[in-house]
Amino acid sequence: MKRIVKNASPQDTRFAEALIAWQKQHGRHQLPWQGTRDAYRIWLSEIMLQQTQVATVIPYYARFLERFPDVAALAAAPTEDVMAHWSGLGYYTRARNLHRCAQQIVAQHAGKFPPDPETLASLPGIGKSTAAAIAAFAYGARAAILDGNVKRVFCRVFGIEGFPGQVAVERDLWHRAETLLPARDIEAYTQGLMDLGATLCTRTRPACERCPMQSRCVAHASGRTSELPARKPKKAIPEKSTVMLVVVHEGEILMEQRPPEGIWGGLLSLPELNRLSSGDSDVDLHEQLALALSAFGDIDDITMLSRFVHGFTHYRLSVMPVQVRLMQRHVMAAQSDYQWRALAQIGEAALPSPVRKLLATVSATTDR
Ligand code: ADE
Repeated sequence: MKRIVKNASPQDTRFAEALIAWQKQHGRHQLPWQGTRDAYRIWLSEIMLQQTQVATVIPYYARFLERFPDVAALAAAPTEDVMAHWSGLGYYTRARNLHRCAQQIVAQHAGKFPPDPETLASLPGIGKSTAAAIAAFAYGARAAILDGNVKRVFCRVFGIEGFPGQVAVERDLWHRAETLLPARDIEAYTQGLMDLGATLCTRTRPACERCPMQSRCVAHASGRTSELPARKPKKAIPEKSTVMLVVVHEGEILMEQRPPEGIWGGLLSLPELNRLSSGDSDVDLHEQLALALSAFGDIDDITMLSRFVHGFTHYRLSVMPVQVRLMQRHVMAAQSDYQWRALAQIGEAALPSPVRKLLATVSATTDR
């Protein structure tokens, strides 16, 4: 597929020029995967570096190359052997894809890594950015990288708002990555982006005083390096509410045996107003309670307790506890999810933790 080469504006050209000059003078030049055009070695390093720091990768890279010196040796090796040499690097899908990729290179590409980023990106474990890095370093291809570090550099230098994981922000970032590409020196430019992101434009405490982009960096000029790129937005956690009833009569408390499914399944909990009756929220609470509890007894008095919020993984439950003292108890149906239990021993039952906490305060203040 033909790549569309976009024309860079003068502003864009200066970004690449400054970066290339900086990389040549201050960038990293002694990493074990530099100074080679061997696509196998470059590919291996890029896969190892996808989720692992340079310092951790270096010894693994050396041992791996010693055991599998070329793509044919890797393709022919037993999977266990490959996994053993990856062991400790983590993210083992990378190792499985690495092995499959080597086998495809041998079987479908005559043992040679294809030079164009699109074909590289169709191979197992090679995403768009990794394909561009391999094509640039091994073949001098003019292709754009965009990993997490590069996104951070662009968000800060160009003052890009929004979380980089959002589709629109990601599209903007890829567009910039492509328009900023220099006409020559793609290797120094690509390495420069990686070096800047890893050594100066770090997530915390960036070394702006040494940065070649300082004079053009929007985040630096506006004192917003700690705010850009924007963090992943936290999902709004929905809040549900319930009226929980602490119904007491002569040292006993009315409890509900929860059905096996749903929250607090199988536990003994407190009755809840909306579970007892579908309710009519227009009538006052006293009337609602009288109706909901009519099968259990007649209400003597009602005390509103302190509201509290209990956090579940997917929502928050706002609990309004209401204490109801009955003056008279009715005989209950034999088959019921509701049962009277001695308040003094209720702590021994299998209770949900917020119910346990609530009952601890109630027991301490209830004498009847
Ligand atoms: N991270 C990803 N690719 C890299 C490379 N070639 N050099 C240093 N760090 C990297």
